[in-house]
Amino acid sequence: MNTAGNKITALILAAGKGQRMRSDVKKQYMLMMEKPVLYYSLDTFSKSEVDDMVVVTGTEDMDYVETEIVKRYGFEKVRAVVAGGRERYDSVYAGLQSCTESAYVLIHDAARPLVTADVIHRTIQGARDFQAVAAAVPSKDTIKIANEENYAVDTLPRKDLWIVQTPQAFEYRQILAAYEKMKGDSHPRKQITDDAMVMEEYGNTRVKLIMGEYENIKITTPEDIPLAEMFLKRRM
Ligand code: CTP
Ligand code: MG
Repeated sequence: MNTAGNKITALILAAGKGQRMRSDVKKQYMLMMEKPVLYYSLDTFSKSEVDDMVVVTGTEDMDYVETEIVKRYGFEKVRAVVAGGRERYDSVYAGLQSCTESAYVLIHDAARPLVTADVIHRTIQGARDFQAVAAAVPSKDTIKIANEENYAVDTLPRKDLWIVQTPQAFEYRQILAAYEKMKGDSHPRKQITDDAMVMEEYGNTRVKLIMGEYENIKITTPEDIPLAEMFLKRRM
């Protein structure tokens, strides 16, 4: 337990529709080794230094998450299950509203069940040292920019490219302020796809990238399932 005024909360995002997975069951609730994908993040964060957790989910899934996941597996650190919104940033913003007592928040995608205690620990350390951090790994692939007809128009220098993951951790008041500013922007210039971007575009603190893990994949499309299962099995 961290001292009062130093509370660390994990915000676990599970309010997406999983459209790219094209499955009947939303990807965060699909079973892997007989447990729902969301279970694995909650289990790993439960055993970490975070003080409590808030799960953000779709209104229609709140009962299921409360009963079949939080209660069933006894995740006592889960302080609240709250309703998310249409876009990922809406869900984060909803979750941030129930973290007013927290000094730091770790924002994590439920779709990344392979997050480890090590990465969580580094993220927390990073938040204390830098106020704004994102787990990331150096890109192994060459990344190109294409035009609308898919012709390559530019190749970014690989040594500068990082694949960004979650958790991303922030000093609470600073990320809240950045989100408030984003919400008030009626003409956003960019499509917001992660929390670091909200801080980069609307906040006052530079985001430090800290080392994630290549196994910390985001389950997004069908071919990610066997891969994630293989990593999970290997750990057991
Ligand atoms: N998420 C969320 N609320 C949203 C959208 C996404 O809480 N409105 C969560 C997802 O549940 C997931 C994480 O954010 O854990 C990362 O998003 P992504 O991988 O894009 O998941 P989905 O949006 O569900 O999938 P897709 O984009 O394929 O529809
Ligand atoms: Mg999405």
